[in-house]
Amino acid sequence: MRLDLAGKAVLVTGAASGIGLACVQAFLAEGARVGALDRAPVPTLADGLLAVHADVTDEGSVAAAIDAVAARFGGIDVVVGCAGISGPVGTPVAETSAADFAELMAVNVTGQFLLVKHAAPWLTASNGSVVLLASDSAFTSAPGMVPYCASKGAVVAMTRALAVDLPGVRVNCVCPSVVDTPMARGDLGEVLDDPAFPVQAPEEVAWQVLHLASARSRTVNGQAVLADFGVSARSGFPA
Ligand SMILES: NC(=O)c1ccc[n+]([C@@H]2O[C@H](COP(=O)([O-])OP(=O)(O)OC[C@H]3O[C@@H](n4cnc5c(N)ncnc54)[C@H](O)[C@@H]3O)[C@@H](O)[C@H]2O)c1
Repeated sequence: MRLDLAGKAVLVTGAASGIGLACVQAFLAEGARVGALDRAPVPTLADGLLAVHADVTDEGSVAAAIDAVAARFGGIDVVVGCAGISGPVGTPVAETSAADFAELMAVNVTGQFLLVKHAAPWLTASNGSVVLLASDSAFTSAPGMVPYCASKGAVVAMTRALAVDLPGVRVNCVCPSVVDTPMARGDLGEVLDDPAFPVQAPEEVAWQVLHLASARSRTVNGQAVLADFGVSARSGFPA
């Protein structure tokens, strides 16, 4: 399939690690020009890459990063919001502090809001596309995941609202189950190596992101693509 992403101006947040880094590499492989935003150092990958240091919770820093990418590439066609944190995974709600909850919402929700807010004029001009990282945790949970699930549910709802709010711009999100990244390794450790536990690779998420970002999915707007090996489709019925 031809994605026709060559030459497109793309901005990826959370670009230094995991899914964001896989998205950067996949867009570069398609010949796109990529702005790679992170608060951590981004690996030097290719000439077409512009690394921008920013914290997605800081509105001034996000606006400046978007301006820098748009100035370098002459506009922005695609933004991908991967920056995220998992917060106090495993902590029961009664022991979860308001500060931890607020920090998680600031990165996972406000960060996505600021990204799209400041990229919106460029995306409107290019009839562009947004892909946000939500999670299957928007729909299912395990004990000790209240803040993370709340943040990802907010991303799904915000995706739908943004699709309505931004005429001419497609806004979708992807909702993967566990992906083998430093975040998941930190939270789950060797569980990821159990062959009975379905785990996906960051590249598999990136392929979905690129398809949604491309004109090949021009009919898809305001959607949350749940990629969980079908786990959530199974009824609790004992059969
Ligand atoms: N790994 C999984 O199992 C999984 C599953 C579903 C969804 N997700 C989501 O995918 C996204 C990427 O996760 P990942 O697993 O690749 O994690 P990761 O920890 O490997 O990468 C996250 C990146 O975001 C950056 N970041 C965090 N806070 C930031 C901030 N305030 N400003 C700028 N950059 C910031 C980090 O520096 C890091 O480079 C997240 O939104 C996560 O919630 C992950």
